[in-house]
Amino acid sequence: MYADLLIHSAQLMATLRGYSDGPACGEGMSEIGLIEDGAVAIREGKIVAVGTTEEVRAGGWAGPDTRQISALGKVVTPGFVDPHTHVLYAGSRENELSLKLKGVPYLEILKQGGGILSTVRSTKLATDEEIKAQTSRRLRTMLSMGTTTVEAKSGYGLMVDEELRALRLIHELDGEQAVDLVPTFMGAHAVPSGYSEEEFTNYIVDVMLPQVAAEDLAEFCDVFCEPGVFSLESSERILVKAKELNFKLKMHADELASAGGAELAAKLGVISADHLLQASDEGIAALARQGVIAVLLPATSFNLAKNSYARAREMIRAGVPVALATDSNPGSSPTESMPLVITLACLYLRLTPEEALAGCTINAAHAIGRANQVGSLEVGKQGDVLILDIPNLNYLPYHFGSNPVETVIKRGKVVWGG
Ligand code: NIG
Ligand code: FE
Repeated sequence: MYADLLIHSAQLMATLRGYSDGPACGEGMSEIGLIEDGAVAIREGKIVAVGTTEEVRAGGWAGPDTRQISALGKVVTPGFVDPHTHVLYAGSRENELSLKLKGVPYLEILKQGGGILSTVRSTKLATDEEIKAQTSRRLRTMLSMGTTTVEAKSGYGLMVDEELRALRLIHELDGEQAVDLVPTFMGAHAVPSGYSEEEFTNYIVDVMLPQVAAEDLAEFCDVFCEPGVFSLESSERILVKAKELNFKLKMHADELASAGGAELAAKLGVISADHLLQASDEGIAALARQGVIAVLLPATSFNLAKNSYARAREMIRAGVPVALATDSNPGSSPTESMPLVITLACLYLRLTPEEALAGCTINAAHAIGRANQVGSLEVGKQGDVLILDIPNLNYLPYHFGSNPVETVIKRGKVVWGG
């Protein structure tokens, strides 16, 4: 039995092995299973051997038809997993830049009917084909920068037919391009005009959630829990109902104000609590106790330009598993770049390159329930591998603003570069 693909001679290979049963936390986030002169063999889309080049060659995986790629002088990692995006939408919001530069707050733009509600309008006006074409381009950019699995939220529909349409389009796109998509229902993204928060919460609980569940369109349910958007009480009602309907839970928590979001996330046993810039000490302790993953979004902090970042070091010290994501969306984070997120995570969240890599591979996979398939280079896992044209791991955050990714392999096939 020969491998279809053999990547060998990597200067350094980061396997992220050993965390398939639970995310890396504390010191574990620095122990990323490095192998010098590393090799990985893939057969029928799955990893069949990992080790030094000598070990993998000794396994006899290289046959006459095996494609061999040398990664000499380069770094090999698992494909990046982006566990928090709003990638499905039509339109853009560059018109809001001047408001932001004048100091108009993000939630004020939303209150005036802009922000998320502006993207809700442009998405509603677009055809399915237009939404898919615009989203495919972003997914292609993500892939070119090393992202091979993406969580994708609805939330620019808000009304039931539009939310169902968004989730169906996410399913279609999943089958039509190389990046794997994990769908999340986020009808609770903003309160549309004409509704009070309570009326819209009732609508989510009584109308939308049951239909999304009946059509089996989403694995996760997420809520923008923030004073002025969805209160703790509304968020809890929505997430409790979602849990009854067998959704796994996520929360946008304590992004702009410290309001007990992290505490609620821990109480409800969500898989991940995201943003967390303003999480309290007690909130961080509660996340650690419950094993909730903190998905941190430093590109959003950077782009909101308020010099405010999540307290990642304190979270890691407390034992909270930390993951990283782009939050790719047309307002607070118009980017597709995980390499940029890694740089920002090192410079402003003060993560080491090793911790940042754990955050956007194995811990990100745990945050979207995919750690048994992706996020590490281990026998039996999907053959999602990156060859980075960098000489060592420090180089990854160090050289920013350009693309370090040379080759992207998805299920054993070269899908970008090479
Ligand atoms: O995660 N915070 C709420 N939702 C997104 C922003 C979406 C938008 O502005 O379009 C976020 O930052
Ligand atoms: Fe978000």
